[in-house]
Amino acid sequence: MRTVDLIQKKRDGHELSEEEIAFLIDGYTKGEIPDYQMAAWAMAVYFQGMTAAETAQLTMAMVRSGEQMDLSGIPGVKVDKHSTGGVGDTTSLLLVPLLAAAGVPVAKMSGRGLGHTGGTIDKLEAIPGFRTELTRDEFIDQVKAVGASIIGQSGNFTPADKKLYGLRDVTATVNSIPLIASSIMSKKIAAGADAILLDVKTGGGAFMKTLDDSIKLAQAMVAIGTEVGRETVALITGMEQPLGSSVGNALEVKEAIEALHGLGSPRLQEVALTLGSHMLVLGRKASDLAEARKTLAERITDGSALAKLKELATAQGGDASVIDDPSLLPAASRVEVIPSGEDGYVQAIEAEEIGLAAMMLGAGRPTKEANIDLAVGIVLHKGIGDAVKKGEPLAELHVNSPEPVVAEVVDRVIRAFTLSSQPVEKPPLVYAVVSKNGVERLDGVRT
Ligand code: URA
Ligand code: CA
Repeated sequence: MRTVDLIQKKRDGHELSEEEIAFLIDGYTKGEIPDYQMAAWAMAVYFQGMTAAETAQLTMAMVRSGEQMDLSGIPGVKVDKHSTGGVGDTTSLLLVPLLAAAGVPVAKMSGRGLGHTGGTIDKLEAIPGFRTELTRDEFIDQVKAVGASIIGQSGNFTPADKKLYGLRDVTATVNSIPLIASSIMSKKIAAGADAILLDVKTGGGAFMKTLDDSIKLAQAMVAIGTEVGRETVALITGMEQPLGSSVGNALEVKEAIEALHGLGSPRLQEVALTLGSHMLVLGRKASDLAEARKTLAERITDGSALAKLKELATAQGGDASVIDDPSLLPAASRVEVIPSGEDGYVQAIEAEEIGLAAMMLGAGRPTKEANIDLAVGIVLHKGIGDAVKKGEPLAELHVNSPEPVVAEVVDRVIRAFTLSSQPVEKPPLVYAVVSKNGVERLDGVRT
């Protein structure tokens, strides 16, 4: 087989065979196929697309390029969750203990934040002592004993994806649905779960800006999961504004704790319950969504989900007293309130801008190597559709930065808000459910 022939075949719009795709991915991972040929192939895919069979074969070739987590020693259906990246999205911190309290084992590998989006591993490190690096055996044993564990990615998972994603980033080939879908699904499949729930964000703060593109990406990922025997369901959820009220690591832990008390941002609560209900059904612990939602609501009101978070934190070396008393979490030296300059209704809050503003305060990483400040961030006091009076707080900044930086961030947050003189309808939280049965468009709850 010659690489140049495979590039030409794809360039001319033909379907590659499983052997041909494996040849490209193995050769590229081993360094036998050079970057320039792989770049040419990626560009051919960008223009010609891939069939569902090719996309699944590419995914599995990338899965086979490295280690795979073996969760078979853990009884039950293991369900993983992936979000395409949001702002103020603390759902994982809430869902992991909630699902574990409802009997679904969760063995979760999570990432750190980059750019305007946050990462679960950074948030967990706001709990003093919390160890996000466990050995494989510690990880598996904890899921067996406690029902859940969350660790950072370590080890050699999907090296082919790492290399190819890096190449796509500098050759203008990131934005291809089969390449994105196979990249995300290869990492989830290598992480070992039996079933996968995807939270595909749509809107200004998301990777996919339009509902149609978000649905296409979700369909591609569900098709891969179905093809390779990992049941996959995707929800399309809104990122027209940050999901919860808090953006910043310790602030988001505090918000997750509030949510496990049944308090705090109704948007976060609603999206978490919707995602969680699907996960409970995928995990075979509920026969339908209504039953699942009832079970999860009970695990919140009876305190067992919160108790599970404490158990999880303690098992990983964390100081669970911060969960009883969130005022013990890392706190910023000052709080700067941002008042509204006018009366009106909130029409938009650019999520990406809020994420970048929090990053400027030190809550997020401009580059992979940057250090972050766990204490700082932004708390929004208003969401889309809320009425606001002149002088009322739009948001507050939790800061440790010098004054000129704070002034710049204040400006940025004010600019992220658009106010209207007319009442504004709240956007839907969940737009669609994509499963092997097709696409169900919703116009459900708006809170
Ligand atoms: N996220 C990924 O992991 N891969 C992509 O290709 C795009 C977004
Ligand atoms: Ca604006």
